[in-house]
Amino acid sequence: MSEEIIIARETENLTGSVRIGGAKNSALKLVAAAILGQGASTLHNVPRISDIDIMADVIRSLGGTVERQGETLIVDTTNATGYETPYELVSKMRASISVLGPLIGRFGHARVAMPGGCNIGARKIDLHLKVLQSIGVQFVNDHGYLYASSPNGLHSAEVYLDFPSVGATENMLMASVVVEGTSVIDNAAREPEIVDLANMLNAMGCKVEGAGSPTITITGVPLESLHPCEHTTVADRIEAGTFLAAGALMGGPLTVEGIDPSFLRMALMKLTDMGCSVETTEDSITVSRTEPLRPVDIQTLPHPGFPTDLQAQFCLLCAMADGTPVITENIFENRFMFAYELNRMGSDITVEDHHAIVHGVKSLQGAPVSCPDLRGGAALVIAGLAAEGETRIHDLHHIDRGYDNYVGKLQSLGANIERLSI
Ligand code: UD1
Repeated sequence: MSEEIIIARETENLTGSVRIGGAKNSALKLVAAAILGQGASTLHNVPRISDIDIMADVIRSLGGTVERQGETLIVDTTNATGYETPYELVSKMRASISVLGPLIGRFGHARVAMPGGCNIGARKIDLHLKVLQSIGVQFVNDHGYLYASSPNGLHSAEVYLDFPSVGATENMLMASVVVEGTSVIDNAAREPEIVDLANMLNAMGCKVEGAGSPTITITGVPLESLHPCEHTTVADRIEAGTFLAAGALMGGPLTVEGIDPSFLRMALMKLTDMGCSVETTEDSITVSRTEPLRPVDIQTLPHPGFPTDLQAQFCLLCAMADGTPVITENIFENRFMFAYELNRMGSDITVEDHHAIVHGVKSLQGAPVSCPDLRGGAALVIAGLAAEGETRIHDLHHIDRGYDNYVGKLQSLGANIERLSI
């Protein structure tokens, strides 16, 4: 059986501009939120990635339809009367459990296959369950499926999250928008994707205030009053950060267009601390570098802290810095597989528990490598451009989950790279 691989060859520099697409982590939840609109919602700026295909299959498995026209998705949930999400889909993509909240909001019950662990950690769902229980949802774990019901109806509640979980905040938001009374999520996740979801819900007739701050207030409205809407997905700050890391490594100047720089404040600060020049406009960021990369410690934290989804890309920068920076991963316990793979290309990274001690090296060598996960895979491709010789990157399905036309965009910046079947 043939396999697709990426061949990245030593490239002198990456320069020019690249347009950033819609955010994977937002679009997935926007598609799920369309369940509440009970009609055909139109979502613009939806990236062509396999995770979105899986979420479209989730909607279809419920009886809805999803049609793509370029970057636009028409999600029609008029006949989405099913309430069960099968194991085949949840096992392919954990974010499938984002339908739990909207299904509970629309039907009062749901049956969702329990997500297992995944290769970046255990990824529990206890917080999802806790917040939904607070509004009256009862859960039974039944042969690998989680059956959610609300025999006594749903009621508003004030919840305080132990940790600002993105997924738990989103599920609570999507379930409680149709629950009578005022609900409050305190210590809520503050990611731009949460703001995007709240904006779409409000465009459907919901009343959500405070998204983007630690306290979100939801005034419940009747389900029947909600309607489908038209919404444009926010830009992908992680895709932008990935290209900026590539520009910082190679020298640039490299510009990412169509992204609000405030989404990436911490990452931009780290780039500056590493010796890069960073210039911003309202919707673009340009990075360039002429001096050696300086070592900078990084610790991942919930937004607006440094994003875990950029940890691998910045670990690569640290791996070629002149010193010994330490990276601390606080969000996912098992997210350093990338470092082991990069060490095969000549980096010198020691992982101890949730810390990576990175001894900077002057050069990397091309090698056959496998994508350990989505972001690690994207970082290995960039490493291949900076390395001597040729790097063959396998297991591309990880990259395809979250990057739309990654190779084409890198080629447009001057990368010596191709994707082919072997
Ligand atoms: C989302 C993003 C992911 C990003 C992450 C953190 C999507 C599809 N994925 O994932 O790319 O890396 O936010 O920014 O949007 N946790 C619990 N119990 C829970 C929920 C979470 O212990 O009920 C833990 C997780 O195991 C993890 C941490 O909290 O260690 C962060 O999880 P969370 O913020 O919920 O991330 P996701 O929504 O899964």
